[in-house]
Amino acid sequence: ESLHKELEKLIHTADPSQQTHVRKEFDGFEQLFSRFLEETGPSVDWEKIKLLPEGAVQPYNELEVQLTNDQMKTMLNKLVVLKLNGGLGTSMGCTGPKSLICVRNNLTFLDLNVQQIEQLNKRYGTDVPLVLMNSFNTDIDTEKILRKYSQMKIKIHTFNQSRYPRINRESLLPTANSIGGREQEGLSDCWYPPGHGDVYESLYNSGLLQKFIDDGKEFIFVSNIDNLGATVDINILNFMNNPSNGPAPEFIMEVTDKTRADVKGGTLVDYEGKLRLVEIAQVPKDKVDEFKSVSKFKIFNTNNLWMQLKAMKRVVTEKTLRMEIIVNPKTLDNGINVIQLETAVGAAIKNFEGAIGVNVPRRRFLPVKTTSDLLVIMSNLYSLHQGSLAMNPMRSFPSVPLTKLGTSFKKVKDFLHRFASIPDLLDLDHLTVSGDVTFGKGVTLKGTVIIIANHGERIDIPMGAILENKIVSGNLRI
Ligand code: UTP
Repeated sequence: ESLHKELEKLIHTADPSQQTHVRKEFDGFEQLFSRFLEETGPSVDWEKIKLLPEGAVQPYNELEVQLTNDQMKTMLNKLVVLKLNGGLGTSMGCTGPKSLICVRNNLTFLDLNVQQIEQLNKRYGTDVPLVLMNSFNTDIDTEKILRKYSQMKIKIHTFNQSRYPRINRESLLPTANSIGGREQEGLSDCWYPPGHGDVYESLYNSGLLQKFIDDGKEFIFVSNIDNLGATVDINILNFMNNPSNGPAPEFIMEVTDKTRADVKGGTLVDYEGKLRLVEIAQVPKDKVDEFKSVSKFKIFNTNNLWMQLKAMKRVVTEKTLRMEIIVNPKTLDNGINVIQLETAVGAAIKNFEGAIGVNVPRRRFLPVKTTSDLLVIMSNLYSLHQGSLAMNPMRSFPSVPLTKLGTSFKKVKDFLHRFASIPDLLDLDHLTVSGDVTFGKGVTLKGTVIIIANHGERIDIPMGAILENKIVSGNLRI
């Protein structure tokens, strides 16, 4: 009640031309918030979780088909590609949108994604549009960069995800006292983008969902913009369009085999006869080890998702989406404790009919979450072809090395400063670097390399050095 009143007050501080839009957003927020108040128990009952039945996850190689160019063209013309672009690069020390970080050859995530779609359209003579879901944190910078693509033969559509009010943890009321502009001092702290689960509602509210349906589009491929492996895959698209048996799935989640490095990723389970995504935050404390087990829960969600546009529209208009609520507590600069309620796009899998998983090769999951990931992506382990990364065939085994760069490398700026050039990683298995370390030009790292500069020390790996199965520490020089 009092929340509703506060929200009404906020709406009236908005520019009259914006009020209808803000009201729509707040409706979504109020629904989420009332679900949060109602749902007191745990979001999953561990006892009801069952391992996946036969056929719930299809192996990728069984989907491979030979198609003619015309068949591919027809399918591609029914496709829309959407990249989730609401997030900032703060975890890598950048202030702007994460998608504007340079990853290779002076190209950003955004550039590479645009190139991928542009090349696809050129190759097949198709008209696949690229859609970006921005947030109020990323839209201005993204739009500025997009201007350089205005002359190119690619249709780029953008829309903003919702802007929800952060809620004071004690009073359970918004911290904002006006809608304000984005430039208004202190106000940006009062708002947040509510996670990528917001894509359903926001795409629908933007009018684009209906426009694509009216244009004859049928499928949408949604993925994280920072996953460089999330390219358009003809085999999966074909499976969605034309499954070998049974009706077409409304939702496909690409999953991949879990290694010990990804035990925290969400996994797919059978829950009351439907596929469900279970995230570590939903697992009771005493079951966390079981959840992390690589042998019991073998796969995890890559967040590469394929959906039927009509089904997407149905779950929004019929209000049947029930994505688990992620409660994210924060303390603002002014010391106020707030909560923000978020949802994840993959959690909607349970609300679609005939949802299915496809177990894809690891190469479709190349996320860049840290500068350690960036090092691998920038190195000679990969080469770049038309916006897509391919692993160097010279690598003798297909797995990516485990790399752990310490906090002195955390920010992209520091990371770049510490490498005169990116070392040769072709034969690297494992790299750990900690402390004040720099790398000269043309360094080669092989096998397991551990470099540790203790507090007050500095280690400079000289130009042209070859380190193979080496531990380098302050007093143990190469
Ligand atoms: P994150 O980088 O926040 O997610 O966003 P994560 O924790 O590593 O992985 P998930 O959540 O399990 O997938 C992943 C993608 O979602 C976008 C980011 O821009 C990024 O591309 N995102 C995130 C949004 O578009 N909106 C949001 O509110 C949050």
